[in-house]
Amino acid sequence: MTEQRGNWTSSAGFVLAATGSAIGLGNLWKFPFITWENNGGAFVLVYLVCIAAVGLPIMMAELLIGRKTQKSAVGALREAVGPGWGLVGGWGVLCGFILLSYYTVIAGWSLFYFTRTIGWTTSGFPTDLPMGDLFGQQVSNAPLQLVMSLGFSVATVSVVYFGVQKGIERIARLFLPILFGILVLMLVSALGMSGSGEALTFIFRPSFSELEPAGILEALGHSFFTLSLGMGAMITYGSYIDRNQSIVKASAMIVVLDTLIALVATVIMFSVIFSVAGMAEQVGGSTVGMLFISLPELFYTEVPFGTLLGPLFYVLVALAALTSTMSLLEVVTSYVIDEHGVDRHKATVLCGGAVFVFTIFAALSFSGVPFLSTLAVFEGKTGWFETADHFVSNWMLPTGGLAITIAAGWFMTREATEGELADRTAPGWFRYDLWRFFIRYVSPIAVAAIVVAVFFFGVDFS
Ligand code: PHE
Repeated sequence: MTEQRGNWTSSAGFVLAATGSAIGLGNLWKFPFITWENNGGAFVLVYLVCIAAVGLPIMMAELLIGRKTQKSAVGALREAVGPGWGLVGGWGVLCGFILLSYYTVIAGWSLFYFTRTIGWTTSGFPTDLPMGDLFGQQVSNAPLQLVMSLGFSVATVSVVYFGVQKGIERIARLFLPILFGILVLMLVSALGMSGSGEALTFIFRPSFSELEPAGILEALGHSFFTLSLGMGAMITYGSYIDRNQSIVKASAMIVVLDTLIALVATVIMFSVIFSVAGMAEQVGGSTVGMLFISLPELFYTEVPFGTLLGPLFYVLVALAALTSTMSLLEVVTSYVIDEHGVDRHKATVLCGGAVFVFTIFAALSFSGVPFLSTLAVFEGKTGWFETADHFVSNWMLPTGGLAITIAAGWFMTREATEGELADRTAPGWFRYDLWRFFIRYVSPIAVAAIVVAVFFFGVDFS
């Protein structure tokens, strides 16, 4: 390596960057929807247990592998666990590559709705344009999809280009407080709506008779996605952590913040939905339905200060997505820097460009392009975009996560992991043996259950 490896400037800088990676479309787009599908309460409780019992220990495992070796995913696993384990890192890099390629497309939709809502706020909401039609038109408009996803890819490359401190950390420090601020404003407005009581009951009152077993696995699968685990993003971010920061404390903060934001986003969305007669029945259809079909209209018809909050909400989605896409690109880029000795600037542009080729495929998945719109590998999933999403969420993240827990629990020595977690920086409440128990037994068994469910029973989380 020619240049000195970057480091976060402070513990807060790192926590914000990692939280930025974790908070993303998973929190604003997927979580509210799967909570809806799984009838709220009991699902939310199971999700919280999964986050604490599986997500948190694996978060610590990934960060410690990164910090111990000061290397990106491939090199880190190879050095910390053994030569063959570089393959698991490679699987993670590939996963980051694919995930980034279609995540950018959804992020592009938020840009579209941002420009639309700005227009509606200034010149009035179009009462004669059904929002479902608008969504269909934008998603099938190939040039529009390409321009928006290109815009988002360029933004991502521009951040990662400047490196860990001047790019990623700086943007996270700037954007995350804005993101929190917008969410608080929206929460205040939502809690004032007539449906907020019903929303809170739906989300927080568990009724176990309404939870299906598949819902439990879905909660578990989502805890990987939302915490950016299973593909080396946290290994990579961990490789820039200083020796005198506590991985345990940082992991706890990232996990708590990510969970809090997912819950707040859900309270906001459901308060709006329950405030409108008949809305609860309409929303059911799809993930995109909630975010890009139901909400835009409700901002202009129901939500207090909605004309202001509408555009702000889509800014929020875009910012949350950007702090995630930069971590995805960093996984791929840092691999090329560390393993192939390419300098950061060249590596970023190269990787960003290569990913964008696949973004084109995802962006054109809804335009009736042969193959891209018709590809059918997995049952019920049509087109490149849905296939990629299904493959990443169902196959790549759980298998990667399983390998990482086994690596940290069974292939790394006790001394190696204890030295990173239970050092003098560890908080008083931390019990290393408890972590070791979870990472050796609880996490692998839980994650193996997902893998078995997907491989053998065709359960679907995407
Ligand atoms: N955690 C992100 C989200 O919730 C997605 C992501 C997964 C980002 C893996 C980076 C790595 O949207």
